[in-house]
Amino acid sequence: MPIQIITTVAEMQQRAQAARATGQRIVFVPTMGCLHQGHLSLLEAGRKQGDLLVLSIFVNPTQFGQGEDFEDYPRDLRCDSELAEVVGVDIVFAPTVAEMYPQGYATFVDVEGITKGLCGASRPGHFRGVTTVVGKLFNIIQPQLALFGNKDFQQLTVIRRMTIDLNIPVEIIGMPIFREPDGLAMSSRNVYLSAEQRQQALVLSQSIVEALRMVAAGQTDSSVIVAALENRISSKSAARIDYIKICHRLSLEEQVKVDEDSVLLLALFFGKTRLIDNSYLKRAE
Ligand code: PAF
Repeated sequence: MPIQIITTVAEMQQRAQAARATGQRIVFVPTMGCLHQGHLSLLEAGRKQGDLLVLSIFVNPTQFGQGEDFEDYPRDLRCDSELAEVVGVDIVFAPTVAEMYPQGYATFVDVEGITKGLCGASRPGHFRGVTTVVGKLFNIIQPQLALFGNKDFQQLTVIRRMTIDLNIPVEIIGMPIFREPDGLAMSSRNVYLSAEQRQQALVLSQSIVEALRMVAAGQTDSSVIVAALENRISSKSAARIDYIKICHRLSLEEQVKVDEDSVLLLALFFGKTRLIDNSYLKRAE
């Protein structure tokens, strides 16, 4: 069957209901498009785990703050659909903004607590937009399984919280971060980087390697590790630090001492481009 592109909520919902009625297992990968190898790895994994593989492509305005890159966010539905077809996607759901947020739209999903720090502190309202659109997409696509990248660690934690709290019957899988050969985590926003910024952005993955080395050598004091990373970043790059934190993987609260539940989370600006990365410090991804 050739790939199908659906743009209306009604048609997508009908298609999902029909698939469910015949016992098909729906696997879902939500994206904002501009697909890269990281997205394709989610789709390849998803292909093996269900009957109907649905990819959503929707640049969601409610998760962008004022002055952020909503207008400039790269969009290329034709190229994305071709890539999706190669990895065996059955349906691309690509609604318009008016279709998702019609006149009179007034309902938002807001996960409290864990959305306030880290990216939530520098992007107020961001996670409210993410959980609102992901909640809507779950209702429209009705998947049994949804795959997300671990790169957006806080997003994944927040979405897990939402599905538990709202009793949404979907299994959430976090997939390993997909990296360029030189270590840079794949992100649709990497296209914004100049050649020099692209080189400097390696400081993100290098910082993770440095932190892992310190922990392997017995360092458990989070403030010592964070200070070493701050020094490395300011001496080796022109990056502006948004945050470098060691947090508990579930509560996202900062930890004084590194333990089995610790995750290192970094957000750095290279010019106007903000990139994030993360790693567990004492467990495998
Ligand atoms: O991670 C993303 O691309 C987006 O935040 C998501 C989950 C597709 C919601 O718009």
